[in-house]
Amino acid sequence: MNRNKIYTDIDVKINCVKDKIVGIIGYGSQGRAQALNLKDSGVDVLIGLRKNSPSIKIAQNDGFENILSIAELSKKSDIISLLIPDEEIPHVFKNDLENNLYEGKTLLFSHGYCVHYDKISFPQNVNVIMVAPSGAGEIVRTRFLEDSGIPNLIAIHQDFTNDAFEIALSYSKCIGGTRVGSFISTFEEEVITDLFGEQAILTGGIPSLIKKSFDVLVEHGYSPTVAWFVCYYEVKAIIDLFYDKGFDHLNKSISNIAEYGGHTRGDFLFDDNFKNKLSLMLSQIKNGSFDKEWLNEQKDGYKYLKSKRNNTKELEIEKINKKMFDLLNSNFKK
Ligand SMILES: NC(=O)c1ccc[n+]([C@@H]2O[C@H](COP(=O)([O-])OP(=O)(O)OC[C@H]3O[C@@H](n4cnc5c(N)ncnc54)[C@H](OP(=O)(O)O)[C@@H]3O)[C@@H](O)[C@H]2O)c1
Repeated sequence: MNRNKIYTDIDVKINCVKDKIVGIIGYGSQGRAQALNLKDSGVDVLIGLRKNSPSIKIAQNDGFENILSIAELSKKSDIISLLIPDEEIPHVFKNDLENNLYEGKTLLFSHGYCVHYDKISFPQNVNVIMVAPSGAGEIVRTRFLEDSGIPNLIAIHQDFTNDAFEIALSYSKCIGGTRVGSFISTFEEEVITDLFGEQAILTGGIPSLIKKSFDVLVEHGYSPTVAWFVCYYEVKAIIDLFYDKGFDHLNKSISNIAEYGGHTRGDFLFDDNFKNKLSLMLSQIKNGSFDKEWLNEQKDGYKYLKSKRNNTKELEIEKINKKMFDLLNSNFKK
């Protein structure tokens, strides 16, 4: 296992997943995508769902006729891939998996959360590995169908059978990861960087910046529609400019005034104080206080999340979003 290497299909000498039974628990974003990719790669896949799950029909329509209970799947599978929400994994593990784990089985995670934050006590005689796709399930599936893939982060927590890495790499190949490149990480590194990236940029920073910038323009009397174009609509086009080719390409593609304003006001906005806040957020993830807060939110019945979801529906930008999507879909795409 080489931390500096990018593993591709040619590094998978023997595909040791193909002679094993892979049980997928959950048929949501990752579950459906990974199950279908594994099946298309010739792997024997079982699906395990809770009783009366609405996903049973979806999985059956996708060609998985025999859907098992989670306990039954755990008995029958060599590799058990836990693809349900992270906060549900500990009690599902306790109720349905723990007593059905036999020596030499592999537990596979797509995120390091439950392992890093010690939510589960594993028996010593199983493998515990991670193959984490760097993207949502939908894109894991669509890229696979385009003969491509999404990079995976691979980590090994317990290697009982002495071939846990080969199993992880083979699994990564079967879901399309090594078609583009899989990287070695650790459970700790994956979960800390993932939570930080979400909070700072992906689900925290970008949406907040868009909403707050839109509010400022509207509060100063500018048209919500015009504000929407610059604060929301143009974001994707700008990201597309640097996504594949870097920030230098972005600089070359925009006007001098946009580049000058971007550097000077970007530095003004995201100053040392902002950087200190980022460091504080990182330390809260590392020292477990963010996780404690999240557990309290769960115990509280997701009260904060529910109120935020309701507020989002009422935001002016969300109303403009809907209006503009309808308008753009009906007019501009004709
Ligand atoms: N989504 C992503 O973008 C992404 C990216 C990388 C890694 N991951 C990781 O992948 C894993 C799965 O995430 P996901 O987003 O794919 O999850 P998800 O779509 O929210 O999972 C939904 C599935 O989980 C089942 N489920 C929920 N609660 C359950 C319970 N208590 N008992 C049994 N089944 C239950 C649901 O069953 P029903 O059908 O019965 O409702 C459904 O089949 C997580 O570890 C996550 O961190 C996700």
